[in-house]
Amino acid sequence: MCGIVGYIGEQKAAPILLKGLQRLEYRGYDSAGIAVHDSVQINLVKCKGKVSNLQKRLEETPLVGNIGIGHTRWATHGPPNDENAHPHATANNEMVIIHNGIIENFDTLKKGLIQRGHTFQSDTDTEVLIHLVDDIKRNEEDITLFEAVRKALNEVVGAYAIVVMSRENPNQLIAAKKGSPLVIGIGKQEGEYFIASDATPIIEHTKNVVYLEDEEIAIVDRESGLQLRNIKNQEKTPYIQELKMQLEALEKGGYEHFMLKEIYEQPRSVRDSMRGRLNVNKGIVALGGIREYEQKLIQAKRIIIVACGTSWHAGLVGEYLFEDLARIPVEVEYASEFRYRNPIIAEDDVVIAISQSGETADTLAAIEMAKQRGATIIGICNVIGSTIPRTTHAGSYTHAGPEIGVASTKAFTAQVTVLTLMALSVAQGKGTIPHSRFQRLLIELDAVPEKIEKVLQLDDQIQYIADYYKNATNALYLGRGINFPVALEGALKLKEISYIHAEGYPAAEMKHGPIALIDENMPVVVIATQGASYDKIVSNVQEVKARKGKVIAVVTQGDEQVKALADHTIEIPEVDEVLMGLISVIPLQLLSYHVAVMRGCNVDQPRNLAKSVTVE
Ligand code: F6R
Repeated sequence: MCGIVGYIGEQKAAPILLKGLQRLEYRGYDSAGIAVHDSVQINLVKCKGKVSNLQKRLEETPLVGNIGIGHTRWATHGPPNDENAHPHATANNEMVIIHNGIIENFDTLKKGLIQRGHTFQSDTDTEVLIHLVDDIKRNEEDITLFEAVRKALNEVVGAYAIVVMSRENPNQLIAAKKGSPLVIGIGKQEGEYFIASDATPIIEHTKNVVYLEDEEIAIVDRESGLQLRNIKNQEKTPYIQELKMQLEALEKGGYEHFMLKEIYEQPRSVRDSMRGRLNVNKGIVALGGIREYEQKLIQAKRIIIVACGTSWHAGLVGEYLFEDLARIPVEVEYASEFRYRNPIIAEDDVVIAISQSGETADTLAAIEMAKQRGATIIGICNVIGSTIPRTTHAGSYTHAGPEIGVASTKAFTAQVTVLTLMALSVAQGKGTIPHSRFQRLLIELDAVPEKIEKVLQLDDQIQYIADYYKNATNALYLGRGINFPVALEGALKLKEISYIHAEGYPAAEMKHGPIALIDENMPVVVIATQGASYDKIVSNVQEVKARKGKVIAVVTQGDEQVKALADHTIEIPEVDEVLMGLISVIPLQLLSYHVAVMRGCNVDQPRNLAKSVTVE
């Protein structure tokens, strides 16, 4: 949520900031702005809409200088408009700020500031924070910018990643974080630094980065370099890490949209999620990152999976896997509900937190709560170095590579791949899986990338089906067993990028309510692949057809029965039932993608959404 960039060095700041905002636009895209210090004063350009709007404004009003900050917004306080766009400034642009997060006590702080004569231009909590810094500066002669920011942050309740720039300090940026991510890149030239919400805008400039910890404040100075302190004013040592990310991974690589590229990357990303972890010849599954905690999983009385959105759907697939293969009871919880309940958590529970971004505020809070109650926490995350992997006891990265499209695709299949490996490894350790089945599943899992490849070859056919249903206003997705979470995921993909109302249901639940919706205008996507409940799902298809619903069925290659009933069928390769989610989700991703494109929607940046949900 909200993208932050900052630059200080010898180069022109504005183009670097603008490019950075383009890279970060997936984090929020309702308004954008840049402020640059020209060594005399701070100049600012900001506007409603996408970064491309800002780019046009900057062509009319170029900003000159070598130090600056930029922001792309996902609105929390106040509607998206020019006034609420960041950076926010005090009078005459004396000080400017960009912020990601929420200042929870902004209302109380604002009232006090108004009484002391401050006036506000926007509805945002961020503007309150910069006025608070200004207030402290006005009241304490000779106080440094760092000290004023530090004191202000001590009064703040909530989450923040901020960068502050002051007219008085043309060589300095102050950056701080609590709850929202912030990373500092160390440039190749002396005194050159890049600041950003994540490494995506930094990678083309440097591979050396420092991730700020909560309550740390960085003084980034062209002359004296980088210093770290915390909000108690204790000195901290910056820990420099090397980024492994490749720049090409952040580009569209010839695809029309990031989402399509990411769908097509899945044979590779699933393979990368298994790399070094699955050895079919030796019959070994090993996840290095959880080795020390594997016994905890083997002995767990219960597994609790916490996640949000698509990651929660992956968690539901995980439930089937752990129960079926490792015979461990599993509960899958929305992190946002779990954190506010009073859940019963025992020390022999293992909590698995799943998150693509590794920054989701609700998932983080659920982890903290479970940790305090003594549970072991294992993370499954995609973004290396993000907060969740640093908060959990152990974990496995999904290695899907950067996911830029706001709708999650390759992250889902990578999460399910890692969950499958984990469940298989625990099942083997517990002795709950016969050797022959274990070995067969390893062989089948190893072949999944090629099978995904085959499904991708159906793209033209899926595009044809999309054209047929592109004007639908509602859609129902049905599945049973492991295909039920896939139905939920298919419905989520359709609604979030095409704005067609879609619901996923366990197929048998249809007759307990949703069947009332079915008529000749209702497309029903049924995942009817071979498996234990195939006959049951055939009956569900018949029930839909009896009510004149339109059926789009995803079936196993060679299927005759469902094909004879359905209006459209998509035949996907056969695979063991427990692995089916990895294959059956692919046509649903493509279907949503094509429908959304045909409806003229912005698939990579759907309205109201942001990639990384760092507010609750
Ligand atoms: C949907 C989607 C979201 C995320 C959810 C959790 O396509 O992307 O539902 O899955 O916001 O995000 P992470 O996985 O980053 O914790």
